[in-house]
Amino acid sequence: MLTHYPTKRSVLVPTLLYAQDEIGYLSDEVIREISGRLELTELEVRNVISYYSMLRTKPAGKFNVQVCRNISCMLRGADEIIEHVEEKLGVGHKQISADGLFSFEEVECIGACSWAPAMQVNYDFHENLTPEKVDRILEEYKKKGTQ
Ligand code: FES
Repeated sequence: MLTHYPTKRSVLVPTLLYAQDEIGYLSDEVIREISGRLELTELEVRNVISYYSMLRTKPAGKFNVQVCRNISCMLRGADEIIEHVEEKLGVGHKQISADGLFSFEEVECIGACSWAPAMQVNYDFHENLTPEKVDRILEEYKKKGTQ
């Protein structure tokens, strides 16, 4: 990837995403390896990781459900959606379901404000959510995950 970007630092986020997709999360070992290869300190790498909600330093479920709780979504029912997802999956913020299929977290704006309330599952966006729509979406993932 180094040949596609002007500086080593600008390769950091795509590299972190690539590593996370490969390994599942950004372990201490991965952070050390990437900081070494990009000539950054581990602190610089960790600062970037802590800024982006899609980057994580702990394992997630096969499907990572991120529900936006920011202003547009909040005004259009995010609280109800969050409560519904937690009840449906039996987990709270930053927890993983017992079967390892789902993890859940509340996040800040995911850039889908015009279609609030919204959530992201791995790289897929789901918008204009209602509890019924959430049920259908989660069932689809459950089917995919158990096939
Ligand atoms: S406020 Fe929810 S997507 Fe922007």
